[in-house]
Amino acid sequence: MANENIKPVTVRSFQKLKSLNEKITMLTAYDCSTAKYIDECGVDSILIGDSLGMTVLGYNSTINVTIEDMITFTKAVSSGVKRALVIADMPFLSYHASKENTVLNAGKLIQSGAKAVKLEGASDFILEEINHLTQSGINVVGHLGFTPQYINTIGGYFIQGKSYENTLKLLDAAKKLEENGAFAIVLEMVPEESAKYISENLNIPTIGIGAGRYCDGQVLVIDDIIGKYSEHVPKFVKQYANVKEIMKRAISQYNTEVKDRIFPSPEYTFNLAEEEREKLEDLITK
Ligand code: KIV
Repeated sequence: MANENIKPVTVRSFQKLKSLNEKITMLTAYDCSTAKYIDECGVDSILIGDSLGMTVLGYNSTINVTIEDMITFTKAVSSGVKRALVIADMPFLSYHASKENTVLNAGKLIQSGAKAVKLEGASDFILEEINHLTQSGINVVGHLGFTPQYINTIGGYFIQGKSYENTLKLLDAAKKLEENGAFAIVLEMVPEESAKYISENLNIPTIGIGAGRYCDGQVLVIDDIIGKYSEHVPKFVKQYANVKEIMKRAISQYNTEVKDRIFPSPEYTFNLAEEEREKLEDLITK
């Protein structure tokens, strides 16, 4: 049963925040307890990003993430969230084969608890897929600029929209996403000036990651901001904590204490009742 006091964030709330010129906050999450903390801190939206390929599954790109992976993590995250708008990434090739396949895959993520899906790019067929999804009652977030699922065609982690012409191309793509029903667009690794121009010329909100100050909202990867994932920290990440150090300190201390027979001490131990212990001792001494 829905909690009466909690008003969930919806697609309409995103639009309202843009119209009020209030910033939208979004973070990724991949597990239930982290999602719960993010939700309790009042963050507007939680993205089950396919970045989990790197942060959780240890791959070096998002390419290997499957729809089955996304379903598992979407279920885990959704079960921890009461207020934030939960968005799940559609993984590589899960929205490319056919419209039927796309809607079935998106439907699986929605049935796992997501309230919207995010997909990358704005080619003609992607626009058709977005149109089909929104007509089917599935909320869609677009993703432009640097699109990690295209890493093999882009050829590296390059900033996108770096010229006047490319900024206009990005805006054109963003407008097409909007026309086809996307309710928000993630802009990744785009110069601040370009992202500002695009944001000002769209009706739907932009959510920036490495796209400067003027997007309608911001998203970052949770492991990056808490300092848990340390393989590569991009320039646009602000690290608010060093969880890796905290974890390593606790793990090292546990390791040492077990080796040195300090843990488990009596306070962490169950004991037999006196009479049962005596019977056991008798048996041992016989
Ligand atoms: O996969 C992800 O985490 C994302 C964000 C970085 C926007 O797409």
